[in-house]
Amino acid sequence: MMGMTGKIMNIENAYLNKVLEGQTIYRTDEVMLRHSKIIYLGYPAKINNNVFAIFIHIPTVEINNAVSNISKQFTYLLLFAIGLSFIGAYLISSKFTKPIIEINNAARKISDGDYSVRLSINTDDEIEELSKTINSMAENLSKTEKLRRDFIANVTHEFRTPLGIIRGYAEALYDDIVPIEERKEYIQDIIEEVERLNKLVNENLELSKIESGNINLKSERINLYKLLIDIVDKIKILKGNRSIIINGTDTFINGDSYYIEMAILNILSNSIKHTKDDGIIEINISNQDNPQITIKDNGEGIEEEHLPYIFERFYRVKEKGVGGLGLSIAKEIIKLHRGSIQVKSKVGEGTTFTIQFK
Ligand SMILES: Nc1ncnc2c1ncn2[C@@H]1O[C@H](COP(=O)(O)OP(=O)(O)OP(=O)(O)O)[C@@H](O)[C@H]1O
Ligand SMILES: [Mg+2]
Repeated sequence: MMGMTGKIMNIENAYLNKVLEGQTIYRTDEVMLRHSKIIYLGYPAKINNNVFAIFIHIPTVEINNAVSNISKQFTYLLLFAIGLSFIGAYLISSKFTKPIIEINNAARKISDGDYSVRLSINTDDEIEELSKTINSMAENLSKTEKLRRDFIANVTHEFRTPLGIIRGYAEALYDDIVPIEERKEYIQDIIEEVERLNKLVNENLELSKIESGNINLKSERINLYKLLIDIVDKIKILKGNRSIIINGTDTFINGDSYYIEMAILNILSNSIKHTKDDGIIEINISNQDNPQITIKDNGEGIEEEHLPYIFERFYRVKEKGVGGLGLSIAKEIIKLHRGSIQVKSKVGEGTTFTIQFK
């Protein structure tokens, strides 16, 4: 017999006998020790055919102490964990909310028309992605805004001269100050200006449509070689005595033949316009790495200082009157076909346009 307190306990005979008979006894509530219940366990053990009864007494006060110690520690741990999770939640939420507040402010500025805002968020996650998207949106909006302002300024400027001419001529005719034999000439000039304005309006509309991406490009298989033969055939009347040579073989791209034809016609009509009547225009179609068209003339050429601008809307080198849209349209069409267009030129020697498809 033994007890945890080191004292020998009194054991009722009835229990002792039960254990010696082979039963296991377990009690908690009846025995009191030092104002505390004790857990009381009797267990039979057989050693060398002798039966022993082993009794164990554990005062619950010690278990209670241990339990209350552990539960105290658990409470502290719990409080600590709750505190920690609050701090964590605050840190995480401020990590997320701060950039979202920044993005919100930027979006508000953009909606108020301030396109200069740029976000610099480095969270290395979707929020950073979003901030980058917003940056490029603001950049595109400011470009569009500039385009819109330039466009209005340009159109206003381009329209002023022909409208002035039309008005002046019409007034002169109305006031009867034009000699009879010149009247027809005046009327002819008015008609010409109106036609130019008409062309300008139509081309502008076309260019705006292309630039805004508001056209449904077909995706047809186009044989560039065949297309160029057709185009050159169509402009027979325009070309005068100039010889137009086509070199190449069947070369295919996917795209909208109507628009590709428009782009090539714009470049080719420039080449004709700026080459003397006995000039030579050479067209090469090749497909070494990618489909490529070069249109080379031996005309007047373009001075280097103008080269960077000739693809811009309304830009003309020395031509008078309205125009300057042909190359802008060509460039936008080629861009929509994921291609690029380049120019090389030397005054007095000629100009070469290269269209490169991907
Ligand atoms: N092959 C060329 N040789 C010399 N100059 C050229 C050639 N192609 C273009 N240019 C110059 O580039 C300018 C811009 O060309 P673009 O086709 O855009 O306008 P445009 O021909 O003047 O007018 P539009 O085509 O609208 O009738 C022209 O005014 C011309 O000065
Ligand atoms: Mg042109």
